[in-house]
Amino acid sequence: MQSCPKLLGQGFWREQKISQTNPAYQQCISLACKATYDIDEVRVACQKCGDLLDVVYDWDRLRVPSSLAAFEQKWAQRSDPHCLSGVWRFHDLLPFVPVEQCVTVGEGQTLLLPSEGVAKYAGLRPGRLLLQYEGMNPSGSFKDNGMSAAFSHARFVGATRAACASTGNTSASLALYCSVTRLMKAVIFIGSGKISYGKLSQALDFGALTVQINGDFDDAMARVKEVSQQLGIYLVNSVNPFRLEGQKTIMYRVLEALRWEVPDWIVVPGGNLGNSSAFGKAFRELHQLGLIDRMPRLAVINATGADTLYELVEKREFRWNHGSPDLDKAVRYFDEMDAQHRRASTIASAIEINRPVNLNKCIRALEWCDGVVRKVSDQQILDAKARVGAGGLGCEPASAASVAGTKLLVSEGVIGPDERVVCILTGHQLKDPTATVAYHTTDQDQFNKVLGSRGVRRAAFANRAVAVPNNLDEIIKAIRLYS
Ligand code: F0G
Repeated sequence: MQSCPKLLGQGFWREQKISQTNPAYQQCISLACKATYDIDEVRVACQKCGDLLDVVYDWDRLRVPSSLAAFEQKWAQRSDPHCLSGVWRFHDLLPFVPVEQCVTVGEGQTLLLPSEGVAKYAGLRPGRLLLQYEGMNPSGSFKDNGMSAAFSHARFVGATRAACASTGNTSASLALYCSVTRLMKAVIFIGSGKISYGKLSQALDFGALTVQINGDFDDAMARVKEVSQQLGIYLVNSVNPFRLEGQKTIMYRVLEALRWEVPDWIVVPGGNLGNSSAFGKAFRELHQLGLIDRMPRLAVINATGADTLYELVEKREFRWNHGSPDLDKAVRYFDEMDAQHRRASTIASAIEINRPVNLNKCIRALEWCDGVVRKVSDQQILDAKARVGAGGLGCEPASAASVAGTKLLVSEGVIGPDERVVCILTGHQLKDPTATVAYHTTDQDQFNKVLGSRGVRRAAFANRAVAVPNNLDEIIKAIRLYS
């Protein structure tokens, strides 16, 4: 074939070069492009077509256990921090840098627990609903899974500063990794008035340079991309493909807790769509490696006030189409959104996002996992959150979207009452005490100020504080009355 080099183009040659050197590389997710990049290149988009990048592995050249149960052996080596880490004990499934070079602050020590109260609330039979509690991470949210991976890559490429835009949890996580390891300086971008105090307090306390811009998360995200490119700062938002490698391990731990059985459903809140994208990739790879025999179904839950994914997938049939998505559908949607000056608005501030950066990866995950998308109101989110809290594993509002979404899908008959459902509780309850206290308050003004303005009318599961005079008899009377 005399015209080979011209016809096949640079991508072909790069692919050849890379596969001969490193079994891990980066690749554009667009099947029409498939450009590849070395593992030590710092990119958040394909240089050729602008689409997202994946971290891809040539598994034939890597050492992958023949069964998932082999990972249990790591438990015997818990004195090694990389075996203790809930991310790096699965290093064989995300081997983009050598394990000795991976950064850990003890992330991923999380729990999968059944909740009878929440199962009943959602309409599932006892034992069928499990909560994956990511609030136990060092910074109190699932972000630490991805941050340990992005941070490891950042160190690998010699970065000295790392940046993110955030609704609060990414920034808390980045700030924590920077302050604990002293390896990099954190620069975080937040929207004004858009971040809960629990999260803001973490970034400030951990010493991050906190840049508050006049705008919302979508504005901050657009700006941080420009700034980090101009100043050569390493970007750790979930457009960073290494972040998502770390977030795959949430699913490995779910499987581990289920003795390596695949659940019927994974239900996850959708914001920037990093988790849903990572979960789809995790299961796809396990399936291709023959380590699981079937894929679970995926449900991604938007808040009503930030429902881009729902609108595009469920209303406008935006699909991955085996790698040929009709990208114009998304472009048209965003043009309309801009023309109408629509802004995201929900009490679940963590997912108050109208321009999810991982949209294309998420629709791919939905195809791989036969997924569905739903939206739930702030009222549904807060009621679900109160039921989760009553069970003892408090979560922040965004996390409870997974439970509210499960209840909705059960009521629609999409999820059967006997199916095994895992809801991801993405962040700790103490991240956003304002929403929780306002829900339970007896002070109508406080309720209206925080929640009424968001269309929340009642607190069906409120646990009201009892006001009693500072008098022993009155206190005893009140306790007898209410207990
Ligand atoms: N739940 C919580 C608690 C979050 O903080 C986020 C995202 C999500 C869910 C949504 O996850 O983006 O993977 O779909 N928080 C980001 C942040 C945007 O900046 O902390 P996603």
